[in-house]
Amino acid sequence: MIHTPVLLNEVLEYLKIVPSGRYIDATMNGGGHSLAIAEKIQPDGFVVGIEWDSDLFKETESSFKNNSLRKNLILVNDSYVNLKSIAKKHDFEPDGILFDLGLSSWHYEVSGRGFTFKKEEPLDMRFNTSNGVPVNEIVNLYSIPEIEQILRDYGEEQFAQSISESIGINRKKKPIMTTNDLVSVISVAVPNWYKNRKIHFATKTFQALRIVANNELGNVTEGVLAAIDILKPGGRLVVISFQGHEDKIVREIFKEQVKAGRITQPKKGTVRPKWPEQQVNPRSRSAKMKVAEKV
Ligand SMILES: C[S@@+](CC[C@H](N)C(=O)[O-])C[C@H]1O[C@@H](n2cnc3c(N)ncnc32)[C@H](O)[C@@H]1O
Repeated sequence: MIHTPVLLNEVLEYLKIVPSGRYIDATMNGGGHSLAIAEKIQPDGFVVGIEWDSDLFKETESSFKNNSLRKNLILVNDSYVNLKSIAKKHDFEPDGILFDLGLSSWHYEVSGRGFTFKKEEPLDMRFNTSNGVPVNEIVNLYSIPEIEQILRDYGEEQFAQSISESIGINRKKKPIMTTNDLVSVISVAVPNWYKNRKIHFATKTFQALRIVANNELGNVTEGVLAAIDILKPGGRLVVISFQGHEDKIVREIFKEQVKAGRITQPKKGTVRPKWPEQQVNPRSRSAKMKVAEKV
């Protein structure tokens, strides 16, 4: 399944794309947003596309090989936390920066790294396997109170205590190494009614562990602050988040930076996908976009 870029028209509108401008797509994935921006900056603008996942990066890079927009793209396999050094290396003072946070459909469907409880895969969940802590290490080596706290803080999992206890009991019998291992351990720790709800009973545990494996919230904080630093005066920052923790971080950073007189918010509050987009792309339903302009 190809990852459909969310809020595409809104991203182009709020980035206020100027012909021949310079933009950074901090979370390129397959390049849906990057290519749409590249079309608008002809003939001689540039988009720096950053993707942390090396396997995904290679696929995207080779998919662009014969694309006529390739000449306008600078592709970087790195984390957006390094935005400053990336911009410096390419002598780039951007007119706009986009973050489309979280993970891609590619991670669920192709990566083979255990992002989904719907498939039996090794339990890793790192975007970049040279960084972070694989989930099998978290569940097998972290203390039970630590795991409980992770499930509470990043998953808002109401059964954090019983799930973490179940992890503690079961990992003594056999290390928890695959997605199915983890789902079984969660399954015995939660009541039946919890298993019959629309949202799968393992969703929150998987989300919480993925956030920690990749230090996702720390990355968002660092990345967004770096973006504000490197933007050209008048340049735009657009951030799309899919979960409450990230949205809260962005909201708070924007609030502080407005107070400090470093940014304004040309669009107050949150932009949500319109109903027709939500119908054709269910993933977009949880998207929340925020916009800032550098002073
Ligand atoms: C929601 S997807 C972006 C989708 C993209 N806008 C599109 O239209 O196809 C988020 C992407 O960000 C990447 N990512 C996650 N953390 C990152 C980081 N710290 N630095 C750079 N990329 C990151 C993920 O690997 C994933 O491919």
